[in-house]
Amino acid sequence: MNDLQVNLGSRSYPVYFDSDHFEKIPELIAANFNSKVFLITDTNVEKLYRTSVTAILKKVHCEHDWIIVPAGERYKGLITTADVVGELLKKGAHRQSSLIALGGGMVGDLAGFVAATYMRGISYAHIPTTLLAMVDSSVGGKVAVNHPLAKNVIGAFYQPKFVFGDSRFLDTLSKREMVCGLAEIIKYGLIAELSFFEWLETNWEKILTNDVKSVRQAVYTSCLIKTRIVEKDEFESGPRMILNFGHTVGHALENLSGYETIKHGEAVLYGMIAASYYSMKMNFLKQEDYIRIERILTAIIKNHEEKAVADFIKKTSWKDLLGKMLSDKKSTGSMKLIVLKGIGRAEVHAVTDQSKVADAFEHLKVLS
Ligand SMILES: NC(=O)c1ccc[n+]([C@@H]2O[C@H](COP(=O)([O-])OP(=O)(O)OC[C@H]3O[C@@H](n4cnc5c(N)ncnc54)[C@H](O)[C@@H]3O)[C@@H](O)[C@H]2O)c1
Ligand SMILES: [Zn+2]
Repeated sequence: MNDLQVNLGSRSYPVYFDSDHFEKIPELIAANFNSKVFLITDTNVEKLYRTSVTAILKKVHCEHDWIIVPAGERYKGLITTADVVGELLKKGAHRQSSLIALGGGMVGDLAGFVAATYMRGISYAHIPTTLLAMVDSSVGGKVAVNHPLAKNVIGAFYQPKFVFGDSRFLDTLSKREMVCGLAEIIKYGLIAELSFFEWLETNWEKILTNDVKSVRQAVYTSCLIKTRIVEKDEFESGPRMILNFGHTVGHALENLSGYETIKHGEAVLYGMIAASYYSMKMNFLKQEDYIRIERILTAIIKNHEEKAVADFIKKTSWKDLLGKMLSDKKSTGSMKLIVLKGIGRAEVHAVTDQSKVADAFEHLKVLS
């Protein structure tokens, strides 16, 4: 079992990654929670894993109940939040009850937000079932739901009691969802560690085919990088902002697509190309480094063949995108981008010439 510890004083917690058929779950629940647990999952994960997880919990007489939410980013909002709170009240959840998010980043963000606010805060854990959630959303305590006008604008910083990922969950994950996780994995190499990026240049295809050793290496290194950044800046007042590399353009694309056509990781893939292109045009990033970045990211996009995404980008106007980018909560009134000063080195940058961002966005249209 590969363990990591997120060191945040009284809010510290362990992150585990394993492939033991979920056998550790009851042990972790017993060690962390002393009252009934409510597992929150979505309709897809329920179909695949409710029976096996229930069997494991029953074996150790763990008192639990299930709350099921509809699958999909467009359900990560206040209506679903209110439904979950209603279910918790009806089922008698109280201040000592705990929540477990069993699912991807959508379930994790939603359940984490409910945990942060239900009766002013109850404890929770995340058992991530997508690659993206294993490497990113389950670690760091950012929990949020979307508003129709903008993504993740209703939220909190609220750390889980533990995170437990199991590579077995990835056996049922679609290639499209694996690509989304890979996007965030590459982000870590680009913002923080050249040697990890170099490793990814030769191993990314193995991750997509769920090669256990490569996935393990990628999940561990990604969580380690994220953990170290979060420890420096839990509440995102400075260094943590670099984790949003590729997300300013990415979130705007996701929101414009109504959270339907483009998935989060796909939007981040394109957003990272745009931010890297901008970095090169601003002379922050050497041209040869940009070429390396574009090579790996476009190879993933081509391998992935999600034509609807490329078509959506082609028909999106800069004006619409800019409107969304300026309403993104990270823009604080003016536009901020995370730029690369080299592979493995990222910085927050205030944009003074929006036409250069427009050029970077238009460049995305000629890629596919
Ligand atoms: N909190 C953070 O720090 C943070 C970081 C990155 C992303 N996010 C958020 O995470 C979300 C994206 O996460 P995601 O990509 O995991 O999305 P998701 O939770 O919507 O999962 C993607 C799809 O995979 C399905 N699924 C989940 N596990 C499965 C499995 N094992 N087998 C088969 N299907 C499975 C889901 O039902 C869903 O249809 C976005 O809302 C994004 O904003 C949050
Ligand atoms: Zn992301």
